[in-house]
Amino acid sequence: MHRINIIFKFSWPFLRPYRVWLAMGLLFGILFGLSNGGVLWLTQTLIERLENTPSDSAFALSGAGQEADSYFGQIKFRIKNTVDAWIDPWFPKHDRKLDLKQLVGIFLFLPLFTAFRSFSSYLSSYFLAYTSEHVVNDLRVKVLETLSCLSLDYFNRSTMGDMITRINGDTGNLQRCLRNGVEHIIKEPVTILSVFFIMLFIDPMLTMGAMILVPIFVLPVLALGKKAKRAAKKMVQTNVTQSSLMVEMLSSIRVIKAFNLEQTMVGRFRDLSRYLIRQTLKTVRAKELVNPIIETGAILGLGALIVFVVQTQRPINHLVTFFMGIIMFYTPVKKLGKWHIQVEQASVGIGRLMDILAETPTVKEPDHPKSLSGFKKSIEFNDVSFSYLDEIVLKNIQLSVPHGYRLGIAGESGSGKSTLVNLFFRFYDPTQGQISIDGIDLREMSLADVKNLIALVSQDIVVFDQTAAENIGCGKPGATRGEIEAAARHAHADEFIQRLPEGYDTRLGEQGVTLSGGQRQRIAIARAFIKDAPILILDEATASLDSQSEGEVQAAIEELSENRTVICVAHRLATLKSSDCVIVLSKGKIIEQGGFEELIRRDGIFAAMAVSQGIKPTSNIASV
Ligand SMILES: Nc1ncnc2c1ncn2[C@@H]1O[C@H](COP(=O)(O)OP(=O)(O)OP(=O)(O)O)[C@@H](O)[C@H]1O
Ligand SMILES: [Mg+2]
Repeated sequence: MHRINIIFKFSWPFLRPYRVWLAMGLLFGILFGLSNGGVLWLTQTLIERLENTPSDSAFALSGAGQEADSYFGQIKFRIKNTVDAWIDPWFPKHDRKLDLKQLVGIFLFLPLFTAFRSFSSYLSSYFLAYTSEHVVNDLRVKVLETLSCLSLDYFNRSTMGDMITRINGDTGNLQRCLRNGVEHIIKEPVTILSVFFIMLFIDPMLTMGAMILVPIFVLPVLALGKKAKRAAKKMVQTNVTQSSLMVEMLSSIRVIKAFNLEQTMVGRFRDLSRYLIRQTLKTVRAKELVNPIIETGAILGLGALIVFVVQTQRPINHLVTFFMGIIMFYTPVKKLGKWHIQVEQASVGIGRLMDILAETPTVKEPDHPKSLSGFKKSIEFNDVSFSYLDEIVLKNIQLSVPHGYRLGIAGESGSGKSTLVNLFFRFYDPTQGQISIDGIDLREMSLADVKNLIALVSQDIVVFDQTAAENIGCGKPGATRGEIEAAARHAHADEFIQRLPEGYDTRLGEQGVTLSGGQRQRIAIARAFIKDAPILILDEATASLDSQSEGEVQAAIEELSENRTVICVAHRLATLKSSDCVIVLSKGKIIEQGGFEELIRRDGIFAAMAVSQGIKPTSNIASV
């Protein structure tokens, strides 16, 4: 009950918008449950009327005349007489000739009652399925939304497999549990109770005899639930690892093929699959064992019933009705037993979903953001330090980038160049100091405003599986086709896009697989063009290109850089020759700073790097 409580508490905010559907589902579930008791009572009444027994004796029903004297016996007698008087004209009796009313009763009331019962079940299932499908899909969207709002540090400590499992696997378990649960939690208990009370009404002693075994068979079902939960926990862990492996393998298929790693990866996947099968079979065993356990209980109950009927010489119609009653009683018990296993499975996922929904972004939106219309003066780094975990990656950075300035950033690999760039976008906040634009701390501006001021062209180009036009247009929501084509022309991308099979309407494939590195780069530059942001950040934008592509991309970048403030990270120092100022980073510190020519002449680290790239300390700079 505790777990069911947790599941419903967790799901309630998502259930609320569908409460009308939920209420309808529950209402029809109750009607279905009650009509089961009605079917049992009707069967008993019909058999009794068609049999050659004194029908007006409630004491015969109870199987013990002494009950007539008791308080409950009197009530029972009265209820039975009232109902009998009401239905008497409509149903046949063994010693009466059939008349029209009775034919109507048989061919109208009985089918109507059965149809009511079946349609109640149908409507209840439909309304509850409608509710649970919507709830779980809303939950999926919420999980994805929460994930998308989290800061990058969360993604650094999570794996892709874990996130996919939360969005699909954990919510899927909850979906199955809710779908069956909201149905079972009303329909089955109401059926159990209504059947139980009708049986009690017909013959209390017989009912007790038939039900005495129920608790003995419910206990093993509870133990099976615990077993299923342990297996479900292991299944989730394995699913996470398996999904990560799958994402890793499919997204790096070129490297995997180049290093002949296909069989190794498939082997690891196969091992995980086998382990997953073992755990899945444990939960299947737990779930399916419910059937034989409860059915054995039911059959033993029937045995006890027969012994009781024979021993106490009760009328045979009781045996028929109770046979039916026991089946109607144990079927929902079986369903609840199976659902109990699903509850245990779902409770594993609920914990994980609760964790993720409780996550908050470490980079926060200010409550009252200061607005900034455009960039006019300067970007300032004031004593900025930053660490991802314990190790400090940027130390006491002091930097000023005036409007219209071109800042070059050089430094060995791992010196902190990309980290510095990431801080501009507020992917992370500095652990110490502040970054400001036109005197406003980035932390006081809305995240959207900050990102609108800056366009990024990085080495890791992301091309979506959309058309060329959509890939460029995403830089400016609502961009017209004219604007998109103009941006492509500026980025020297128009020519190759026109040559694609469907021009701007050609889908570029996942990660832009149908394009070359240089073409992808130009799509990214076109995206930056259309964004038309006043600050442009280039992080190794031409690093992986051959000299011809680099020439074309460089030309596009030069055009893009006009009238903008540019921050350019480059390993190829020749790219930085037009910079107003270059800073050299080493182990997170600025160790040199000055004009390009000035640094080359200074004979420091930058000069050494330049020499190693064949750049001479003259104004005639040439890269090898
Ligand atoms: N997400 C991260 N989590 C933890 N540490 C990180 C993360 N990203 C980078 N680092 C560490 O921070 C340091 C600086 O990394 P950064 O990517 O800024 O270097 P870089 O100068 O851009 O190098 P490169 O020239 O190779 O691109 C490195 O030591 C790196 O290991
Ligand atoms: Mg980098």
